[in-house]
This record gives sequence, structure tokens and C-alpha cells, in this order.
Amino acid sequence: MARPEIDSVTGVETTGHEWDGIKELNKPLPKWWLWVFYACIIWSIGYWIAMPTWPLVSDFTKGMLGYSQRTVVANSLANARAAQSGFLDKIAASDLAGIKADPALLQFSLAGGAAAFGDNCAPCHGRGAQGAVGYPNLNDDNWLWGGTLDDIHKTLQVGIRSGHEDARDNAMPAFGRDQILEPGQISDVTDFVLSLSGGDANAEAAARGKVIFAEQCAACHGEDGKGSIELGAPNLTDRIWLYGGTRDAITDVIRNSRAGVMPAWKERLPPETIKQLAVFVHSLGGGQ
Ligand code: HEC
Ligand code: HEC
Repeated sequence: MARPEIDSVTGVETTGHEWDGIKELNKPLPKWWLWVFYACIIWSIGYWIAMPTWPLVSDFTKGMLGYSQRTVVANSLANARAAQSGFLDKIAASDLAGIKADPALLQFSLAGGAAAFGDNCAPCHGRGAQGAVGYPNLNDDNWLWGGTLDDIHKTLQVGIRSGHEDARDNAMPAFGRDQILEPGQISDVTDFVLSLSGGDANAEAAARGKVIFAEQCAACHGEDGKGSIELGAPNLTDRIWLYGGTRDAITDVIRNSRAGVMPAWKERLPPETIKQLAVFVHSLGGGQ
């Protein structure tokens, strides 16, 4: 065998391969790299035998350890359920005030309520329960149907104009559409409503509107316009508007009525979840 040629520039052996005067140096992979590589191959063979690996036509090799991520998930879900069931049983057995009074139950309910809120309520009331036009803000202490734990719990169970037999239900007449009031009267009563919260109102029109209000509106909204929790009629004096406080928005509600609908949750969510939601909403800042 010929002695290997030594490259004059680098002093390294060549492999003897040469292309157009360019010679290949003989620089094998470092030993440590090779050993890691062999170790990986040996490890992978062990792994193939122990773990599920190779796809077959309609199945896969299961491996000797019988590991399956599906089982791992199923087990951890079962564990989580078992850990929760103690709390859920207590919530089922306890009344709302009792839940509120027990720090561990309260904490559990606030977490569960927040999760259920994100899943079921956020599409209408917003991620932060801040509400939107037609959907009340649940963070403030301004309540259409009442802000005690029991009020909120009932609102959640039966809904509002939901069609449930016990639903919170009261609809404002559509004074314009159903021709109960003339357009001029609607305009006057709009001025009166604006004047109730210090809005930009014509004093003469508001004075005429006041008479109409006493006849047509006070039954639900009260003589003073402060609203009624029993009837779900908003307070019109507080500058908190469900449908907006501009002249146009107010006229539109008087003309057409809105009658917002909130679903009943009694048949959709387990009773423990509704209790957690009630506690959660009550804790948002405005609970009474
Ligand atoms: C489809 C839309 C919708 C969904 C979903 C919804 N709500 Fe409502 N919610 C409304 C509307 C609209 C009102 C106001 C109805 C009215 O005009 O009186 C309301 C009112 C309420 C009220 C009464 C507020 C008050 O001032 O008295 C509470 C409490 C409430 N929602 C909580 C929830 C919770 C908790 C959930 C989730 C389980 C939820 N809502 C899901 C539309 C919705
Ligand atoms: C039968 C009861 C009832 C009568 C009568 C009634 N309202 Fe209402 N009103 C309601 C209810 C309930 C709501 C809110 C719920 C909804 O429509 O979603 C409401 C909402 C409103 C709103 C919207 C408030 C907001 O926050 O955006 C205005 C404005 C209003 N009413 C003005 C009037 C005026 C003016 C009259 C008389 C011409 C009148 N209402 C008569 C029950 C009534």
C-alpha cells in the first residue's frame, strides 16, 4: 500500500481523492461524537422495544411498557375530578352564604366561576364582564334585577325573557311601533328622560314629557325615574345606560323597545356550576 500523501498547506493526510486539483483531507469525525452517535442508536433500539413507536398498516407497535398518553390524560382527569368532588359535594350541600363564608369553598368557587364565565358568559358580557351595548356590565353596583347573591343566582337559573316558565320577564311597550305615543310625544318624553340625568334637554319639551312619563312610564321606571328592581326597569337618572344615553339611542328604545334576552342556565349547567357563577359574579365588585 502506498504511503498516504500529506497535504503541504495543512500538514494533514489526504484521502487520495482529487477533483480538478482539489484534494480531500482525511479528517474523521471526533471520537466523542461517534460514541454519542452509537449510544443514540443503541438507545433507540431499546426505546423501540419499550415504547409505542412503529406505525403498522392499521395500528402501531405498543411497546413492552404499555405507555399511552391517552391513559395518562384519562388518569389525570380522573384525579382532578376526584380532587374536585370533595368541593363540589360541599357546594351542592351548602347555601350561597355558606359558600361565601368558607374561605376554601369561596376560593374554589371563584376559580370555577371564572372558568365557567369564560366558557358561557363572556360572548355576551365580555371577557372582563364589562358588558356592551345591550349587555349589562356586571362589575358595577348597578343592577337591573338585583345584586344580592340570591338575586343573581335566580337570574342565572331562570334567565331574562328566556322563555323559561319562571323567567324574569317584563317588557317595555314599543311606544312608537305600536302607536301608543305620537312622534312628538316620544320626542318630548325623550327630552324628559335626558333631563333626568342632567343631559342636554329642551326645558319646555321636558316639561311636556314629564306629564307623559307620569302616565306611561312611571309604572315601571318609577315617578322619579329611578327604576325598579322587581320589574327589571333601569334607573334612568344615573347616567349608566344599557342601550346608550344619546338622544337617538333613547328615542330608539322608547319607539321600539328592546327587551334583551338572557338564556336560562338551569337546564344547561350543573347546579354547582351555577352557584359558583353566582358567587363569582357577586364578587366582581358590585355584589350587594
Ligand atoms: C346571549 C347573551 C347572554 C349570555 C350568553 C349571558 N347573558 Fe347575562 N345577560 C344578557 C342580557 C341581554 C342581559 C340583560 C337583560 C335585560 O335587559 O334585562 C343579561 C343580564 C345578566 C344579569 C343581570 C344583571 C342585572 O343588572 O341584574 C346577570 C347577573 C347576568 N346576565 C349574568 C350572566 C352570566 C353569569 C352568564 C353566563 C352563565 C350570562 N349572563 C350569559 C345576555 C347574556
Ligand atoms: C312595562 C314596563 C315599562 C314601561 C311602561 C316603560 N319601560 Fe322603559 N324599560 C323597561 C325595561 C324592562 C327596560 C330594560 C330592559 C330591556 O328592554 O332590555 C326599559 C328600558 C328603558 C330605557 C333604556 C335604558 C338604558 O339604560 O338604556 C329607556 C330610555 C326607557 N326604558 C324609557 C322609557 C320611557 C320613556 C317610557 C315611557 C314612555 C318607558 N320606558 C316605559 C320597562 C318599561
